[in-house]
Amino acid sequence: MKKAAIAATAVAVAPLVETACAQTTKKMKVLMINGSPHQNGNTATALQEAAAQLKENGIDSEIVWIGNAPVHGCIACGHCKSQEPKCIFDDDICNQVAAKMKESDALIVGSPVYYGQPNGAVLAIVQRLCYSAGGALSGKPAAAFAVCRRGGATASFQTMNMPFMMMNMPVVTSQYWNIGYGQSQGQIAQDAEGMQTMRTLANNMAALLKATGGKPMPGPSERTTFTNFIK
Ligand SMILES: Cc1cc2nc3c(=O)[nH]c(=O)nc-3n(C[C@H](O)[C@H](O)[C@H](O)COP(=O)(O)O)c2cc1C
Repeated sequence: MKKAAIAATAVAVAPLVETACAQTTKKMKVLMINGSPHQNGNTATALQEAAAQLKENGIDSEIVWIGNAPVHGCIACGHCKSQEPKCIFDDDICNQVAAKMKESDALIVGSPVYYGQPNGAVLAIVQRLCYSAGGALSGKPAAAFAVCRRGGATASFQTMNMPFMMMNMPVVTSQYWNIGYGQSQGQIAQDAEGMQTMRTLANNMAALLKATGGKPMPGPSERTTFTNFIK
């Protein structure tokens, strides 16, 4: 091949090569929801520990704080199943989180324990996300985290895992249940095992993302058979 022809071929191929490289080098990202009304409380400290460890593994993350403004519960209106598949309430953070989740490869939800349960506001957000933006969640790795002063962390952790398992999300585990102890701001940093659990969780999530290349787990191969136990 003449020199000019070789040069022309190289020019034609270059954009394709660049596109392929861009696709393979896209950094994976974990979205984290801080379900506490305290932006810099114990939940935030634990999520930051996981974020730092994800970074060590070359994985990006973003912590979204749910804030302390009122949050709607799902009103089962079905609007999200209409032509405009998003939650009818646009005056809280739910639809913004859904948009971020679409661009993310995995999810970690953290919450303080309130009366032995996760914070109601973060549960409301997650329930509405599942119903209105299930496609953004389905098949992506997920994990929950709960922090408490003394009791109710495992019950809260279990509650938070329930929607993940219904959304075909592989639940990422750690060396222990993802729970931590602390009351006032930053106290959880003294819970060495709790913080270590968050680092192990991050390592495990990074390993899973790298093994799958961030590809979500395929959904069910069959159409869902709904049986409602009416009879
Ligand atoms: C309304 C309310 C209820 C709480 N209920 C519990 C509880 O049931 N068990 C517990 O151990 N701690 C309970 N706590 C303490 C918080 O879970 C704890 O202070 C936690 O570290 C707060 O996390 P944050 O700093 O991320 O907001 C409660 C706190 C509040 C404000």
